[in-house]
Amino acid sequence: MAHSPLQTPLESRPSGPLVGRVRVPGDKSISHRALILGALAVGESRISGLLEGEDVLNTAKSMQALGAKVERTGDFAWSVRGVGVAGFKEPPNPLDFGNSGTGCRLVMGAVAGCPVAAVFDGDASLRSRPMRRILDPLVLMGARVIAAGEGGRLPVTLQGARDPLPIEYRTPVASAQIKSAVLLAGLAAPGRTTVIEQEASRDHTELMLKHFGAEIVTTAEGPHGRRIVLSGQPELHGAAVVVPADPSSAAFPIVAALIVEGSDLVLADVMTNPLRTGLFTTLREMGASIEETERRGDAGEPMAQVRVRASKLRGVDVPPERAPSMIDEYLVLAVAAAFAEGTTVMRGLQELRVKESDRLEATAAMLRVNGVKVDIAGDDLIVEGRGHVPGGGLVATHMDHRIAMSALVMGLASDKPVKVDDTAFIATSFPDFIPMMRQLGAEFV
Ligand code: S3P
Repeated sequence: MAHSPLQTPLESRPSGPLVGRVRVPGDKSISHRALILGALAVGESRISGLLEGEDVLNTAKSMQALGAKVERTGDFAWSVRGVGVAGFKEPPNPLDFGNSGTGCRLVMGAVAGCPVAAVFDGDASLRSRPMRRILDPLVLMGARVIAAGEGGRLPVTLQGARDPLPIEYRTPVASAQIKSAVLLAGLAAPGRTTVIEQEASRDHTELMLKHFGAEIVTTAEGPHGRRIVLSGQPELHGAAVVVPADPSSAAFPIVAALIVEGSDLVLADVMTNPLRTGLFTTLREMGASIEETERRGDAGEPMAQVRVRASKLRGVDVPPERAPSMIDEYLVLAVAAAFAEGTTVMRGLQELRVKESDRLEATAAMLRVNGVKVDIAGDDLIVEGRGHVPGGGLVATHMDHRIAMSALVMGLASDKPVKVDDTAFIATSFPDFIPMMRQLGAEFV
């Protein structure tokens, strides 16, 4: 669970045009959910296109430890034979989620509805992240926190409820992880579990629960919010899941292609769920050429082929209500903003402070060390774009995959190379990032 002290640094150099057609790995959010719902279903679920990154592999291991039969049957193809709702057995050892907040928090929800105890743990980054926001509603549903680190942090020992209670819960922040934990615990409760969110967060859990046979109804709540009602104790049946390509991973080659002159890239099967595409909206407002073709859908999740061409970008104002639909993309958006002409203001980013690192501070530091003028005002990030980035800096990645990839993207178009201190964490979400970018023309040394 400790992070290896061996770091793997890398330098990204000004590169020629990025050209080609690639498929980035499967969506991380959907991959976690497919494994967890497969494990709670009766019968076999066949998953294709699973993200085989460390985060998701840790979730696969935890499902196995909780009694499901999880097998890799081919490249990105997995089979899960589930135990049925509330059917988890007690795991003999602590469940190690490594770097993954999503894996840990969703599985906490799933365990909370089963009469078993489990220890949840992770690496130093995950141990520093808040867990109370998940444990609070789970305790209301009847789970008990037997042990926890300071401030409710990992390692946490959670005793699931024998008779979980359905609750109506208003999430304190727009978080798909909190919503999903409550819904997963609610599967084992009789009656209706309701989650109300003031701002809609990604709805993959709701869509996939429906796909596995649960009754779940979503209605609008206020101007941007949603009310989600799950009928408890459904019989979930095994299902086929095709995992589309992850738009949060696609974000890196997309921004790279926008800022490297002459680039022309095609990305296959990118998931285009509107609760995930805030980055595309924002980049288009900045003047980006991003075209979607071959639109189709699977298991309720839309996807498309995305073509992106190098574009002249201008600064924009990104409203706070857009944050949930692009929460993981601000780092790489800040890189695009640095190459734009004019000021970009990104508003309402308080949740960035509790990601794999404090991403608000880390983004500002990444840009500053490379000669970009940047400010944090309250929870807003302000980037002064000058059409070019001096570069030449060494970026500290803080055990955060998205910092490493954003900084490497920046170096492809900056005046001088950009170095990152550690690329190891890229393997949590995008194991082939470096070879795939090299294949497209990136100079990583
Ligand atoms: C995720 C939700 C988001 C996001 C994370 C994945 C999910 O976290 O940052 O990378 O799959 O539910 P929050 O729900 O805490 O915002």
